[in-house]
Amino acid sequence: MKTVAHSILALGMGMSAMAQNMSYGADNFYRSNNVTVQPISFPTHYQTTVAGNIFYLKGQNNSAAPAVVVGHPMGAVKEQSANLYATKLAEQGFITVSIDVPFWGASDGKPRNAVLPDLYAEAFSAAVDYLGNQSLTSVDRERIGGLGICGSGSFVISAAKLDPRLKAIATGSMYDMGTLARHGLQNSQSVDQVKETIAEAAQQRWTKIDGGETQYTGGTLDHLTANATPVEREFYDYYRTKRGEFTPVGSTPELTTHPTLSTFTKFINFYPFSGIEIVSPRPMLFISGDQAHSREFSEDAYSRAAEPKELLWVPGAGHVDLYDRTELIPFQRLTEFFQTSLA
Ligand SMILES: *[C@@H]1O[C@H](CO)[C@@H](O)[C@H](O)[C@H]1NC(C)=O
Ligand SMILES: *[C@@H]1O[C@H](CO)[C@@H](O)[C@H](O)[C@H]1NC(C)=O
Ligand SMILES: *[C@@H]1O[C@H](CO)[C@@H](O)[C@H](O)[C@H]1NC(C)=O
Ligand SMILES: *[C@@H]1O[C@H](CO)[C@@H](O)[C@H](O)[C@H]1NC(C)=O
Repeated sequence: MKTVAHSILALGMGMSAMAQNMSYGADNFYRSNNVTVQPISFPTHYQTTVAGNIFYLKGQNNSAAPAVVVGHPMGAVKEQSANLYATKLAEQGFITVSIDVPFWGASDGKPRNAVLPDLYAEAFSAAVDYLGNQSLTSVDRERIGGLGICGSGSFVISAAKLDPRLKAIATGSMYDMGTLARHGLQNSQSVDQVKETIAEAAQQRWTKIDGGETQYTGGTLDHLTANATPVEREFYDYYRTKRGEFTPVGSTPELTTHPTLSTFTKFINFYPFSGIEIVSPRPMLFISGDQAHSREFSEDAYSRAAEPKELLWVPGAGHVDLYDRTELIPFQRLTEFFQTSLA
């Protein structure tokens, strides 16, 4: 992971003028005429506040509806991908909640953009608390599921291992943030490189103690360079164009997607798939594009999980395609999965 502090300082005004790729029904900011959406907030068990949205069919008695908690990609916020999935599932009769994980978006936590995977997982359990709080909703406590996109795929699994109140788990374009931090994509990172990342994070702590600035790492390029990799371009097209760009209140466009350098290493201690079999017999559905650069993570989780489990390949789809391309995301299959497993 390369430090991006310099490029952040150098960033000019505005987003790129290049045309983003809106093919296959890219519609990140989709709103449904059929669905009511309301902002909510609720406490974690550690008394921090999580911000979210609740979605449900307009003008209907939803009290018998099953519920699903939806988490956004790592470095994103609920307005990116999570609201879209929550809206599409609400259209099908689910009560859904999209959340900002702690330290991101409108949720509590300092420093902003910090990494703390246990608290990310806790946010899913806190959303279950919220949905099952009978003085707030009439959701059936036995019919609550979880859905995580990208990094949240690993956070919702981490949550589900310790929280059997999550009765069914689905992931889309999952990133195991632990394996990514330890080994890079497809084992591309050496132990020496990991040690270098750890040394940088430790040095950043000294810098802070000495009164220096917070530095950020990873995330999405602020500017496309000629030698940007295909993966960098894929993320740029979503996070840095009007296709998916979103800056939450209190942040700036240059800070979005970038975790703090000193906390990113917390992922090195994050093993979401270790002990994943304990989720059984609750069903798990892993969805990935067969062209996704992240497909190894869904394959790994699927191979380690106990039954019942399913690995669903979306033909032709890449990683970011399943964030917002409504013609590629298998909403029908997700609907059937939660209807069956939360019946
Ligand atoms: C746009 O994205 C789709 C889906 O990933 C891809 O098939 C297509 O090649 C892309 N088009 C361009 C011009 O990059
Ligand atoms: C809504 O549905 C539930 C369960 O089917 C029922 O108990 C309740 O009376 C209904 N409420 C209204 C306002 O119709
Ligand atoms: C919205 O509700 C109408 C009336 O029930 C229905 O015909 C339509 O298919 C719904 N649209 C979506 C996108 O769910
Ligand atoms: C449950 O909801 C009630 C009503 O809003 C609220 O006062 C209470 O704090 C909630 N309980 C928890 C543990 O969040």
